[in-house]
Formats: sequence, C-alpha cells, structure tokens
Amino acid sequence: MKFFVDTADVDAIHELNALGLVDGVTTNPSLVAKSGRDIFEVTKEICDLIEGPVSAEVVATDYDTMLTEGRRLAEIAPNIAIKVPLTLDGLRACRTLTSEGYMVNVTLCFSANQALLAAKAGATFISPFVGRLDDLNIDGMELIEDIRTIYDNYGFETQILAASIRSANHMSECAKIGADVATAPPAVIKAMASHVLTDKGLAAFLTDAQSAGIKIV
Ligand code: E4P
Repeated sequence: MKFFVDTADVDAIHELNALGLVDGVTTNPSLVAKSGRDIFEVTKEICDLIEGPVSAEVVATDYDTMLTEGRRLAEIAPNIAIKVPLTLDGLRACRTLTSEGYMVNVTLCFSANQALLAAKAGATFISPFVGRLDDLNIDGMELIEDIRTIYDNYGFETQILAASIRSANHMSECAKIGADVATAPPAVIKAMASHVLTDKGLAAFLTDAQSAGIKIV
C-alpha cells in the first residue's frame, strides 16, 4: 500500500520524506487555507520535494471552469493529480482531463455507486472518506471493502485512495483490505510507529546496557 501525506504543511512533508515514507501528497482547499499560503506557491514547493502524485483540488463546480482550473493546476508540475469533486460535472471533467493525459483524483466519495461511476469515468484515483463516514456511525472501512470488490470484479484500474484517515488502526485496516493507497495526516503516519511495549522494552534494554557497561562506540 502506498502512503500519501494529507497536508499542505511543507515542513511536515519534508520530515516524513526523510524517513522514506512519502509516496505522494494530497491537499484540499481546507488544507491549503490552513497553511496560509498561496495555492500555486505551496503546491509547487510540494511538487519539487515529492516525486509521486500531488493532488491539487479545483474550487469550481461547473464542468467548463473545472477544466480551466484543472489544466491551470496541472501546469504547476508533471506530478499533479487534478482533484475534482464527485458530482456529475466532476465526473464529466474527470473523463475529459483523463483523456487529455492528466492524472485525476475524484474526491468526496461516500458510496460504492459513486466509486463505480468514478472508475467508469477513467479516474486515476478514487478518494473514499473513511473518517467522515465513521463520524456518522457508518462503517467507513466497509466502503473500502465494497469498492475493492467492485473494482476487482471488473478489473478497473482506478486506484483506491483511502482518505479521511483518522487513526493508525485505519491504516492497517486499509492495508488488510487491499486499498492501493491511504492518505493520512502526518501525526497518524508517525503514530503507526509507536507501541507501549516497544517503549517499555527499550527502556529495559538501555538500563541493562548501562549497568553492564556495554559500550559500542
Ligand atoms: C482527502 O484527499 C482529503 O484531503 C482528506 O483525507 C479529508 O480528511 P478529513 O475528513 O480529515 O478532512
């Protein structure tokens, strides 16, 4: 499973990239707003840092303007994935932008039917939002399972990009189901490394090493 980082915070991306944990980046208008930076400037900086796909989202809702915005965003760098919302206009824009050779990430997916439509529109990525479904007491992980089944049934090449990931457990659940990609905030990716028994075990090893005078360098 590929790891994308869900943020427009360049320092955070840099830190995780140094660990070799960044296969791509996803942003959205809320994350760009949170960064307080110009969308073109911050997205270019991210694209210069990361080789994999960097999703940048349109803010228009009609087909024609989505195309204009998507093409403009794609001029930032060759690794831009144009993010469009899962609406009828968004699906139409997905079809056109895909036929022009761009990567397209169809976002705000909350049902298997929506994911089926995105695959038929030729999307490179479909972004089902796990956490926002969980917030409504609907099992977001079941949606990932359903999409996996549907895509496998018909050999769709659209990649399942599990989004709205809120916990380290979400990451391993996605990997068990076979999501192609999961995008998570930096704190969630870092939390995957922590375990209370690792901390406890390490403390004991260090105490024993000190009492035995073990010195390596
Ligand atoms: C996905 O591409 C979105 O940017 C993101 O995962 C949304 O997550 P949220 O529900 O935590 O805002």
